Amino acid sequence: MVVVYAVAAALSLSTSLLGGPQYGGRQSEDSQSGGGQNGGNGGPQSSTTTARDPGVRSDAVTVGNPVSGIAGDQLEYFNEGLVRFMEVDSVSGSLPGEPGVGLGPGFNSNSCGNCHAQPGPGGSSPSLNDYPHIGSNPQIAVANADQGTNRIPFFVTPDGPVREARFPFMVSPSGALTQVPDGGVHDLFTIQGRNDALGCQMAQPNFAQMQQLGNLIFRIPTPVFGAGLIENIPDATILANMNTSAQLKQALGITGHPNYSGNDGTITRFGWKAQNKSLEIFAGEAYNVEQGVTNELFPDERGAPPSCMINKTPEDSTNFNQSGVQFPSDLVEFAAFMRFLAPPAPSAAGIPGNPSPRTIQQGQQAFLQAHCDLCHTPAMQTGSSALATGLSQQNAALYSDLLVHNMGSNLADNVSQGAAGADEFRTAPLWGVGQRIFFLHDGRATPANGGLLRAIEAHSGPGSEANGVISLFNNLTNQQQQDLLFFLRSL
Ligand code: HEC
Ligand code: HEC
Repeated sequence: MVVVYAVAAALSLSTSLLGGPQYGGRQSEDSQSGGGQNGGNGGPQSSTTTARDPGVRSDAVTVGNPVSGIAGDQLEYFNEGLVRFMEVDSVSGSLPGEPGVGLGPGFNSNSCGNCHAQPGPGGSSPSLNDYPHIGSNPQIAVANADQGTNRIPFFVTPDGPVREARFPFMVSPSGALTQVPDGGVHDLFTIQGRNDALGCQMAQPNFAQMQQLGNLIFRIPTPVFGAGLIENIPDATILANMNTSAQLKQALGITGHPNYSGNDGTITRFGWKAQNKSLEIFAGEAYNVEQGVTNELFPDERGAPPSCMINKTPEDSTNFNQSGVQFPSDLVEFAAFMRFLAPPAPSAAGIPGNPSPRTIQQGQQAFLQAHCDLCHTPAMQTGSSALATGLSQQNAALYSDLLVHNMGSNLADNVSQGAAGADEFRTAPLWGVGQRIFFLHDGRATPANGGLLRAIEAHSGPGSEANGVISLFNNLTNQQQQDLLFFLRSL
């Protein structure tokens, strides 16, 4: 069922503005109808389409390499960063196979690499059922490692995505929902009961209660491939791109704006709400929030009762007794690994259904014809980098404008972060979606419910800036929609 939103105004504009055959080049001979039929007749006809997400592309996994032009010390830092990114933490650091120090007292998992895993280190949620079959949700095994006593929350399942939880609002001591914003991450698990945390008493949050109160939202991991390029796109480039196609954006109801750092006023770009400034800050935050490891950027334990203050803080720090690549803290090394990590390479090989190169090309045309590119900017140029030629003046094909957009009440999570409001999200970069399994900020689009197609349909809802574009998508022929999905699987 499709609800017709207020896009009539946009749709009654001339077809040349809104993506008739004139826009984006000639249409291919075998797509039967096109944007030219959109004019004037009032929004989506129907969401019933025969198009299907072909599923995860199964060509060779090529992610995990550094960008070009790094060698010597930088390559050494990249490699050491990868080792630390994959390292598993325990509380003491002395358990077999878990040499990292400082897990907990609250945590969502015990290694950067187990959440950022698909299709390789740095990616997103893995799955046992989809290529390259990395394994089921790692949070299940991590929860009760080393005699931990955690219960698995209902929203974490073996074949579902890795998830973290936020509570949009505070709950009063009597258990009533208030309108006071919370918005923070509430870790799923605690170290209580573990054999390296004797004496720690700390209960898990009551997720069932929060679910009952309608006060529970989720986030899944965003991949970090090409993150060094994203970090190196100048603010001016993001702003100039925001100001392109102004008339068309206005006609379709697309606005969008940057999120900004409260510290220095520059544009922030990382995370589902573009809430974080840099890879180093994200690494420091993730180390403490996801794994409970205090560090030089975030030195305080989160919500720890005295019984669970087991280690000296910060648990990760500069290694003053070491030299060379061993000297910096983990968080500096994590950032080096992520910054030098190459972007995903597009490919037409291995897409289920074997679309021809021409099909992929037609899918790209359909993507442009529906004007997905007004938010999912195909590429932006990086600035000059002092760190690596591979980060300098590169055409970063990220498919994002790095702005936050109002995505309407269906996707809204009622969490504000910086200038990103309750219903706003960063245009998710689409590079790498060809080998992704779970989509949207909370992972609601899965292989079981339509995958990429479900993600696209979820863009529309009351108040969403994407409604006009989704109407155009719904007006594509089934064949064009299918080609578009094949195109996305080539990214
Ligand atoms: C429990 C799973 C989990 C673990 C462990 C984890 N992350 Fe993440 N990561 C996430 C989630 C979820 C997000 C999205 C958070 C958001 O935007 O609200 C994310 C986002 C990121 C991003 C933002 C990328 C972008 O472009 O948006 C970076 C960088 C990152 N993580 C780095 C790390 C590092 C470094 C570590 C290890 C210290 C780590 N993460 C550990 C789940 C995890
Ligand atoms: C108004 C801006 C806007 C338009 C127009 C738009 N998108 Fe998006 N897109 C977003 C935002 C924002 C998200 C993240 C939403 C969320 O996670 O809740 C997103 C997410 C996605 C995702 C999921 C990616 C991921 O990492 O989970 C896909 C796939 C996608 N868009 C494809 C499309 C296609 C195809 C079109 C055109 C039919 C389109 N989008 C039009 C803003 C837009």
